[in-house]
Amino acid sequence: MPSPNRGPGTPLAGARPFTLTALRHPVVSALLEDHRALLGSLLDGLGSPLHVVLPEIFEGNVAQLRQAFTDAGADVDLLFAKKANKADCYVRSAAALGVGIDVASAPELVKALAGGVPGHRIGISGPEKDDTLHALAVQHGCLVAVDSLGELRRLAGTARRARRPARVLLRCRAGNRPSSRFGLAAAERDAAVGLCAELAGHVDLHGFSFHLDGYCATERALAASEMIDHCLDARRRGLPSAALVDIGGGLPVRYVDPHLWREFLEQNGPDQYHQAREFKDFYPYGGQPAARAARAIMSHPVGGGSLAAKAARNGVRFVAEPGRALLDQAGFTMYRVQQVDDRRPSDGYAIVTVAGSSFSMSEQWFGSDYLPDPVLLPAGRTPGEVFPACVAGSTCLEADLVTWRKIGFPRPVRRGDHLVYLNTAGYQMDSNESPFHDAPLPRKVVLRLGSEDSPRWRLDGI
Ligand SMILES: Cc1ncc(COP(=O)(O)O)c(C=O)c1O
Repeated sequence: MPSPNRGPGTPLAGARPFTLTALRHPVVSALLEDHRALLGSLLDGLGSPLHVVLPEIFEGNVAQLRQAFTDAGADVDLLFAKKANKADCYVRSAAALGVGIDVASAPELVKALAGGVPGHRIGISGPEKDDTLHALAVQHGCLVAVDSLGELRRLAGTARRARRPARVLLRCRAGNRPSSRFGLAAAERDAAVGLCAELAGHVDLHGFSFHLDGYCATERALAASEMIDHCLDARRRGLPSAALVDIGGGLPVRYVDPHLWREFLEQNGPDQYHQAREFKDFYPYGGQPAARAARAIMSHPVGGGSLAAKAARNGVRFVAEPGRALLDQAGFTMYRVQQVDDRRPSDGYAIVTVAGSSFSMSEQWFGSDYLPDPVLLPAGRTPGEVFPACVAGSTCLEADLVTWRKIGFPRPVRRGDHLVYLNTAGYQMDSNESPFHDAPLPRKVVLRLGSEDSPRWRLDGI
């Protein structure tokens, strides 16, 4: 794709706003191009910001990821990591497609069940889960990833009282992450496997899981390979059902063209941001797509063949818990512009204030900025000069910036315009929302384009 930031032979653009165009799924393009009036009236009627959630794209992502794992010769069950988005529509889609749900709290578990996902397809992660969550998990036959010896003893007690065995994974610290706060160290794993053997009848050990930050396929493959070894060790110690390895989430998502992303990183600096703010870290927006990463993990050589081959040879199946990857392109967030403070004469850029806050754009939560350019609607027929502006929320907080980066809007932004932040379903839209200032939580509207002339919409909810 030709860069919008470089003319032929011209140097990189200094402090001029950098154009970082967000990639668009064809369904998203069709909605923005052919159904703007509907989007505008939904925003006006339901309030700003408004999250648009697109389960048909989620469903397509499930199919692609399943295909990628199958292509790599791996037997993988998908559990959607619910924490990445609270909308109920994705749970319903998961239930319909035989995809499980990864939850980390009792309310998430209840929502998964209410959405139609059977207990045996629900995985429970998170450290030191409370007794209520344990009791529900045992009652519904969920798979519990146990994080410590103490938790294993508590869970066994709950199972004994319920007279139902708990289905258990042991979450271990991978060799490449010895200082993680999650999971059992080697000696603790050894003791936990012994305890599972002692407590057989109350605890049924199904396999092993691990927690890794980051998106490195090699690290994930090596950690998964270690977990296969742990399964074999547990079987030798009399636990024949140890045959499952949970590789976690952490499949990357591509938000922008990778060349553009590289160019952005080369020229990025504090002068690109409101108040010359310096950001240390960004999500890798130009990374590889999830399906490619899934193939890379499963094809990674782990001694005597690929990870998938090692698992097949040893009768081990996998579970993966993608959150962000299943939500790639499956939603966007619209704000209405409330005010434009044109400081171009003094500061060189404007401050666009939108109805709503940056709590609906959670990258701020990670001390970072959501970088893909928002789309300005209406687009305007003849783009004039670039209009540089950052985007602020309408709260009383100085730090409430939806976008700190100065965006090069293709025309002057006006009160009443709409800004659309693309690809926000994965963590952005609701991880951090709060009823600050007593504002109601933003609504989510479910849209399906399907094959009909006009999209069908409804409010999200079970
Ligand atoms: C246990 C567990 N599973 C799944 C996920 C989902 O990760 P992602 O959304 O990157 O796929 C996470 C993320 O924190 C996690 O901690």
